Amino acid sequence: MNNLKTRDKLLSKVAADFIGLDTVYKTADGRKSRRIYLDSTASTLMMRAAHDAVEAFYNHYANTHSILHFSARISSEQYHWAHERILSFLKADPEIYTCFFTGSGTTSGINRLARVFRDYRPDRHIALISLMEHHSNDLPHRKHAKKVIHIPLNSHKGRPGCINMEALENELKNNKGSVNYVAVTGVSNVTGIINPIYDIAELAHEYDALILIDGAQLVAHLPVQMSGHNNPNRNIDALVFSGHKTYVPGSPGAVICRKDILENIEPEEVGGGMVENVFVESYEVKTTFPDREEAGTPNIPGAIGLATAIDVLDRIGMQEIFEDEEKLVLTAMDKLQKIPGVIIYGEIDCHICPRAASISFNVKGMDHGLVAAILNDYHNIAVRNECFCAHPYVKEMILDDLLDAAETIAEEDIEEVFKLKSGMVRVSFGLYNTMADGDILEKALIDITEKAASYAAQYHVDGNGNYCHNHFKLERENHFSVSEFIDTYVGG
Ligand SMILES: Cc1ncc(COP(=O)(O)O)c(C=O)c1O
Repeated sequence: MNNLKTRDKLLSKVAADFIGLDTVYKTADGRKSRRIYLDSTASTLMMRAAHDAVEAFYNHYANTHSILHFSARISSEQYHWAHERILSFLKADPEIYTCFFTGSGTTSGINRLARVFRDYRPDRHIALISLMEHHSNDLPHRKHAKKVIHIPLNSHKGRPGCINMEALENELKNNKGSVNYVAVTGVSNVTGIINPIYDIAELAHEYDALILIDGAQLVAHLPVQMSGHNNPNRNIDALVFSGHKTYVPGSPGAVICRKDILENIEPEEVGGGMVENVFVESYEVKTTFPDREEAGTPNIPGAIGLATAIDVLDRIGMQEIFEDEEKLVLTAMDKLQKIPGVIIYGEIDCHICPRAASISFNVKGMDHGLVAAILNDYHNIAVRNECFCAHPYVKEMILDDLLDAAETIAEEDIEEVFKLKSGMVRVSFGLYNTMADGDILEKALIDITEKAASYAAQYHVDGNGNYCHNHFKLERENHFSVSEFIDTYVGG
């Protein structure tokens, strides 16, 4: 009980302490208000504790790869701690798994693993992925595996849900011996639908396929256990996630992978730090992890910031965070559902499909771009629109709406209209969002649906298909310029 209270207290403290929660902008009607940030699925805000830890660390900053002077030793030790902390956070046994940092997000890690998996079992040429994948967990496999099969999703009354396990099993069975791996997202970046990753792992392993989890939307929202399951088939072979979606913009992407998969394959990237010996004729790659996987000088402050955020999340408890956010998402979904004209995509019954973080919707009769622009310009609510780098998934879900719209437009215009209409509005939540944010969103959407025509009259579509306000421009007050910041610094 006491423990729970302490965690609750910590959650409240941390949630209220993100940089950017107090950012104020002036809206098209001349009001000034606090920005409501509902775009965490794209990138989260910065956790203050992570920011402050990195700032303190800068006093000791030095390159790693040496322990001779005080700062080099501190940097090396803290950078090492960052790897270990991520492994323990994801319950990945350090004897079996390594963690290494790569690029700024998930994309480079998945590209890397797609090549590793290809080289690990070159006799197997098929990768199975789901239809809900972000392009970053689709295109790397198309490029590096010889063949990719997209597994359909469950459908309940026409609403797509999680990956269809029966279809997955059929493909695993029909292609036994040829499927190298299954790669699925833990949580959809469009609908927030949560996939049963441990069931998927179990099934994949039963057919001797590996399992790769795209953890971009998973790691900051749900507890993860990569190893130590009673049934070892439920363990995850590899997982990739992004630091910028885990409350630390500017931090690297992280790859967690079984060492035995990596150890016989020469890393794609070579250079300093990952070699034992270099001769004119040859070189010897280190056998130690993670060094061999990280050529060059790493993003040391970014990694330390990321590990700080993760440590804080762990102290609160990921189950507690998930349950807290789930209440927020389900309440918001309930409110949105009741607004006439709002269509929410994907399975909405959380008993059939649990959700985390994201809700995507359209307002009947309004382009997604227009709704997103009004939310920003008049209500100071930051959301994202279009297809969220998941074109096949989004297009499948809006097909019915497009066909409805197609009835009212000339045939020759369908292509053009399809391009314009093909998309959704996405609201997404993070640790710092509150029920009040959901109320503000609800009010804004009621206002937009009630005054759709008068709002629409304030906008025109520019040559790139973007909705631009006829009069309101990004005003000086809503502006930030690095060079002006420097001017002030230099001048001062
Ligand atoms: C599910 C999912 N996978 C992969 C990515 C790519 O992540 P990054 O942009 O950090 O490389 C994203 C980004 O939105 C995502 O949501």
